[in-house]
Amino acid sequence: MTDLAHMLAQRIREHGPISVADYMAAAAAHYYGRRDPLGVRGDFVTAPEVSQMFGELLGLWCVAGWQAIGAPSRFILAELGPGRGTLMRDALRAARSVPQFVGAAELHLVETSPIMRQRQGAALADHRPHWHGRIEEIPEGPMLLIANEFFDALPVRQFVCGVKGWQERHVGLHDEGFAFVLDEAVCAWLPAAPQGSVREVSPAALAYADWLGRRVAQQDGAALLIDYGYSTSACGDTLQAVRGHRRHPVLCDPGEADLTAHVDFAAVADAASKAGARVHGPLAQGAFLRALGIEVRAERLMAAAPSLSATVAAGLRRLTAADAMGSLFKVLAIAHPRLLLPALQ
Ligand SMILES: C[S@@+](CC[C@H](N)C(=O)[O-])C[C@H]1O[C@@H](n2cnc3c(N)ncnc32)[C@H](O)[C@@H]1O
Repeated sequence: MTDLAHMLAQRIREHGPISVADYMAAAAAHYYGRRDPLGVRGDFVTAPEVSQMFGELLGLWCVAGWQAIGAPSRFILAELGPGRGTLMRDALRAARSVPQFVGAAELHLVETSPIMRQRQGAALADHRPHWHGRIEEIPEGPMLLIANEFFDALPVRQFVCGVKGWQERHVGLHDEGFAFVLDEAVCAWLPAAPQGSVREVSPAALAYADWLGRRVAQQDGAALLIDYGYSTSACGDTLQAVRGHRRHPVLCDPGEADLTAHVDFAAVADAASKAGARVHGPLAQGAFLRALGIEVRAERLMAAAPSLSATVAAGLRRLTAADAMGSLFKVLAIAHPRLLLPALQ
């Protein structure tokens, strides 16, 4: 058993089973606090690590967003969970063609992991980033924000529909390990569904969406969320753990595998709209990147360095093909209601 598993087992012995959300939150804090999980030698690879084109196109999207808010001489350029800083580094390099944008950007990174902060510091030293542990610490002002594969790591509560109705799934103890159990209480607020259905609700994701919606509606700007998930709220058990690029049992080795759930984009959009923002999308990642010109960018990169053509073509395919990241991954913008945003109209 890992240290975290011992701690969680002790907590359950003393206080009873914990919610799936509490289990996920403890596992995520431990997991990201102790390693850089990205890359071929890590547990998984994200879009900015697949190809520089991803960050470059998001950088150009931010330039268009900055122009849409009137090209202010100072604005907040923010990222949630920036990983190795690769996305933002590529974005700012692509944005150098508009020096006023780079000069006006004040870079703010929301990151809890000290190891990942170090990585980001190395990648973005030229841009003097400011770090925050919580989104609420980002200073006031018009803001453009990016979050790639951030919402999927936020804890979800799971509910199971049985003979009594909806009951919350908790994590308890069984023999030497953890096991799912059902809480006694019946929840009347979820819509009817066939027996055996699982429904996921992420209070943390809704709180971020509410904060972002309020912020851009009141102070101008837009947030671009990219993640895997579903466009219409539906039942389904999407909780998964990944370790060494393979699926791992979700209740084994908490804190040693990446634990995620698919993002309910409809619920996120609803929370942001209720907070006063206008929501654009979700649009499939492949369609979004093609609308931003990824094919032209790939051709230019291949022409400039023919020896890298196969790598560029593989990156293009992985980011856009429907059987790769092109359709499971989706893009949602939360924006000030007056803004027109590229690739999402
Ligand atoms: C899946 S990685 C994505 C990294 C990056 N966006 C990318 O696309 O390569 C998740 C990132 O979010 C950070 N993170 C996870 N939970 C967080 C939280 N609650 N608050 C702030 N950062 C968090 C992790 O340390 C990591 O940098």
